[in-house]
Amino acid sequence: MLKQQILFVDDEPMVLQGLQRILRPLRGEWDMVFAESGGRALELMAGHPFDVIVSDMRMPGMNGAELLREVMRRHPTTVRMVLSGHADKDLVTQCVGVAHQYISKPCDPEQLKAMVRNACALAGKLVDDEVKRVIGAIDRLPNVPEVYVELKQALSREESDPRVLGEIIQKDPGMTAKILKLVNSAFFGLRRTINHPQEAVAYLGIDIVKTLVLSNSIFQQSQPFQTRTFGISDVWHHSMAVAAGAKAIAQAEGLDRVLQEEAFVGGILHDVGVLILASNFPDLYNRAVELVTEEHVLLPTAEQEMFGVTHAEVGAYLLGLWGLPAGILKIVSLHHRPHAFESEGMCSAMAVHAADVICGAKGGQALFESGRFNQESLERAGLAGHQDAWAAACASASEKELP
Ligand SMILES: [Fe+2]
Ligand SMILES: [Fe+2]
Repeated sequence: MLKQQILFVDDEPMVLQGLQRILRPLRGEWDMVFAESGGRALELMAGHPFDVIVSDMRMPGMNGAELLREVMRRHPTTVRMVLSGHADKDLVTQCVGVAHQYISKPCDPEQLKAMVRNACALAGKLVDDEVKRVIGAIDRLPNVPEVYVELKQALSREESDPRVLGEIIQKDPGMTAKILKLVNSAFFGLRRTINHPQEAVAYLGIDIVKTLVLSNSIFQQSQPFQTRTFGISDVWHHSMAVAAGAKAIAQAEGLDRVLQEEAFVGGILHDVGVLILASNFPDLYNRAVELVTEEHVLLPTAEQEMFGVTHAEVGAYLLGLWGLPAGILKIVSLHHRPHAFESEGMCSAMAVHAADVICGAKGGQALFESGRFNQESLERAGLAGHQDAWAAACASASEKELP
């Protein structure tokens, strides 16, 4: 296997030496290069491709935000990570949109190893060069919303007080209004009116609220598009229906609450790759949809033909860059490939796949006909004959309307 190329940038020699020491055991899997300034980092990158760059924030001359902005422009496929201390809050704000991940200082070596490993897995194994090529051709990928970054940072400090988390959300009034409208809709079926984001956090849990923040922002930033058979709002409705259906299936199959929530969150995000592809490459995407309607191939097959990748891989790649957990990436990247997780029986990925197929069959639109049940796969999963119960679970979940 090729070693991953990683560049660390920090103006303090002591920090670089410390990093070198704690990461020494990983020499077998990583080639690590250390640079003492942004300028030096760019020089090194000009002569040599890197999979990941991990930069300090506060540096004389070019700061971390400026460096990563330049890296984004010159080397769009390099994963960009920021190491930031508590005092760097203002600088971190500048990084929104240019950094894929944030690591807090003082950094725990295990966390750093895990995050870089994760990023490498994305840069290497999970996606191939085709995904990087397609993503690299997009000038403006959606940014991670600032509110989401702040929520993640608060959670990494083990902050769980809904009041504190609610206040972070409230800093963005537009986002707050959208979230409140959604949680008060019949879709969530809460028995009381939620007037403040802190109540939404208390009632729905932070994972769901955080995902709503993220997905709302992705939808808002995507260029509106209309293919022959569906537009951006259809993708939103489909995603929420699959989320509700996946949770209902997970519940009916007796999965625990954590997995039910994972199915819900995975359902909301499972088709974000459609948004990325359709809003950035409308002509090519329309041709993919034509292939689906005229030649009756499945959507992922048509996308593969037009782009060399599918929306599942593109979505998982983007979410991976943003540091979403491995369980969600698996759901997103494999939601059209049940044979990849059939040995696990019922699991959150199977629940999302099942809800996707069932909700899809109902919609009568090309996007959603993208999957069918593979009977052999269901048999191998020990789930043959469960479809009727799943369809009933999805039907009762989808009675609740979205705003
Ligand atoms: Fe899909
Ligand atoms: Fe779908």
